[in-house]
Amino acid sequence: MKKVAIPLLVCLLIVIISCKNENNSIDKDLAINSSTANTKVTSIEDKVSALLSKMTLEEKIGQMNQYNGFWDLTGPAPKEGDAAKKYEHLRKGYVGSMLNVRGVKEVRSVQKIAVEESRLGIPLIIGFDVIHGYKTLTPIPLAESASWDLAAIKTSAEMAALEASASGINWTFAPMVDISRDARWGRVMEGAGEDTYLGSKIAEARVKGFQGEDLSTSNTIVACAKHFAAYGFAEAGRDYNTADIGISTLNNVVLPPFKAAKDAGVRTFMNSFNELNGIPATGDKYLQRDILKEKWNFDGFIVSDWGSITEMIAHGHAKDGNHAAELAANAGSDMDMESYLYVNELAKLVKEGKVKEAVIEDAARRILRVKFELGLFDDPYKYLDEAREKEITGSKALNDAALDMAKKSIVLLKNEKQLLPLKKEGQKIAVIGALASDKTSPLGSWRIAAEDNSAVSVLEGLSAYKGNTITYAKGADVVIGEPNFTTEVKINTTNKTEFGKAVTIAKNADVVIMVLGEHGFQSGEGRSRTELGLPGVQQELLEAVYKANKNIVLVLNNGRPLTINWADQNIPAIVEAWQLGTQSGNAIAQILYGDYNPSGKLPMSFPRDVGQVPIYYNYKNTGRPSLPGPDVVFWSHYQDEKNEPLYVFGHGLSYTTFKYSNIKVKNSYKGSKEVTVSVTLTNTGNYRGKEVAQLYIRDMYASVTRPVRELKGFELVELNPSESKNIEFVLTEKELGFFNNQNEFIVEPGDFKVFVGGDSKANLELKFTL
Ligand code: NOJ
Repeated sequence: MKKVAIPLLVCLLIVIISCKNENNSIDKDLAINSSTANTKVTSIEDKVSALLSKMTLEEKIGQMNQYNGFWDLTGPAPKEGDAAKKYEHLRKGYVGSMLNVRGVKEVRSVQKIAVEESRLGIPLIIGFDVIHGYKTLTPIPLAESASWDLAAIKTSAEMAALEASASGINWTFAPMVDISRDARWGRVMEGAGEDTYLGSKIAEARVKGFQGEDLSTSNTIVACAKHFAAYGFAEAGRDYNTADIGISTLNNVVLPPFKAAKDAGVRTFMNSFNELNGIPATGDKYLQRDILKEKWNFDGFIVSDWGSITEMIAHGHAKDGNHAAELAANAGSDMDMESYLYVNELAKLVKEGKVKEAVIEDAARRILRVKFELGLFDDPYKYLDEAREKEITGSKALNDAALDMAKKSIVLLKNEKQLLPLKKEGQKIAVIGALASDKTSPLGSWRIAAEDNSAVSVLEGLSAYKGNTITYAKGADVVIGEPNFTTEVKINTTNKTEFGKAVTIAKNADVVIMVLGEHGFQSGEGRSRTELGLPGVQQELLEAVYKANKNIVLVLNNGRPLTINWADQNIPAIVEAWQLGTQSGNAIAQILYGDYNPSGKLPMSFPRDVGQVPIYYNYKNTGRPSLPGPDVVFWSHYQDEKNEPLYVFGHGLSYTTFKYSNIKVKNSYKGSKEVTVSVTLTNTGNYRGKEVAQLYIRDMYASVTRPVRELKGFELVELNPSESKNIEFVLTEKELGFFNNQNEFIVEPGDFKVFVGGDSKANLELKFTL
């Protein structure tokens, strides 16, 4: 009884204090805040101040301490942090947050201790990697990005928030907004691909989807823009590796999606494992304090990545744990995920004067602010309702949304002789590939809360179409054993004993559907690759089946661009189906049968060879971009491969065709600071279909060189056969400018080109001059 009474008393006091302050019209802070017309923020600030005034130094530091739960692990098991110690710290109020605690029952078990047994009863904020859904999984983020459908992506995040919040989660470690140009890096699956403009729009959609309009409603969760910054530039695509990029790439390529997330209202950021220019991001004051907190005025909090504070010792930046805690706190990392250093070292550091108490106060304030915004102080159990959890988890509405998103994420890479869509009647169809029957791989690797075998397989999806006869042979295993989140995946590189069965069923079929690619656990954190071909014996399987029947539809499952030159040259139809989540098989079947007309476009270039990476459409031209004469070597090229990727950024076909015409530029830049580009899009084929009309610009010469093309606008348009639509893109300073090397955003006068079309090779172009 007494234990419960303490937090209630604190709340009462807070209310009294905040009421007093709200009525005090000459209070300076209040005047500043009320001038922003945000009274809710004002009262939260007062509540935070009142609470902080009661907290001991250790309790403030406690808010900065985040522990992993007792069940799931999403990083290397730490040496410290036994369960007994964690419980003791919960009781003392030395824990501000826990991650990987999930489900109403588990969350309540820890929340109850924090709220009812600690001195001030401050609720925990419960974090979890809701990367593309919680239990009901939507496509991996790279796949969702291929939809270019911002409304659908936002809905997908909303649905994820709904399901996760019903299981007691308050905070997702998403979206990952790292720009990535290197398909060897396993985490390209978790982001929006290689382009800053698309990535920024998607960052905004995801943040708004997770957080909604009001964080205090029970179906929204706090988002976290990660990994700040440059993690996607890990050298050689090896995860956690050094990033070494210049100021221009940092400002123009890496930071804009983070800024877009901030502008969309994201309440937390996560720093990153990599070092940048010699400083681990976790200890980087320039990134965290100077840019994020001061220049961008971010008033939420920054969480470290898993153990990244302690990792500054291995980086060679911190002498020991004590030093690492000092560097991280002073640099602006507010919360320590699984390093155990803030809780062990910060109080000492404050007493020694190495970390100012104001730094602790500021960090605790930021964390408490977000907890108040979530409404956790009004009711710490508001997200803990078993009946709601039961009703929402895996509901039909979630599955319908996941299916919708999955269909929108598929990219038709090639379709010769109109092999697709498949006929619905009278066909003998051979389905080949272990991934065709796999019910776990489509979930991808970020699927901690999802059950094994909970995805609809391709075979199951196809079985809904009764008019054709289906035979199945796996041909070969992709992986050996049952891969999981923490251990290395073993690939089948030798066993071809089932090839014969696959060849036999292919011989007797009208059409062969081959489902090949990567297992879901081959991409994601810690899952870099040096080869980008079909893993294991799958290429051989493809060629063996091809000898028996050339009528092949290749359905790719993968978390990154693959090198599939042979398939591109020989296989008539190729469908990029990524890892599509719970409804994977249904989405693929509906696309193959034409019940959904594919409209996805690649968010990353597909290289011809791994030797080309990093490869991206918005490269710089070099001084020697093209052949100076026959057989002369002195130009920027490879001896043994083309410069161009196999499939360019923005590529994706439909069952119908589109024509772009009538491009016009209205240059009002001198007056209204706008350049308007218009174009007519016509559906010239036989199906109703959607097209992503894309606009690229090139700033022809500038004080800091600009890429050969930059995406600066796109629109998803749906048209009936023969229907046309006039599309207008407006280019403002934001689209026409760039950061110079003095960190200034400028628009330089001069010549520009604009290109409009269905991919990054768009060839309808005009010039304009600013
Ligand atoms: C490490 C990953 O880099 C990060 O993205 C993730 O959110 C944390 N682990 C927590 O699981």
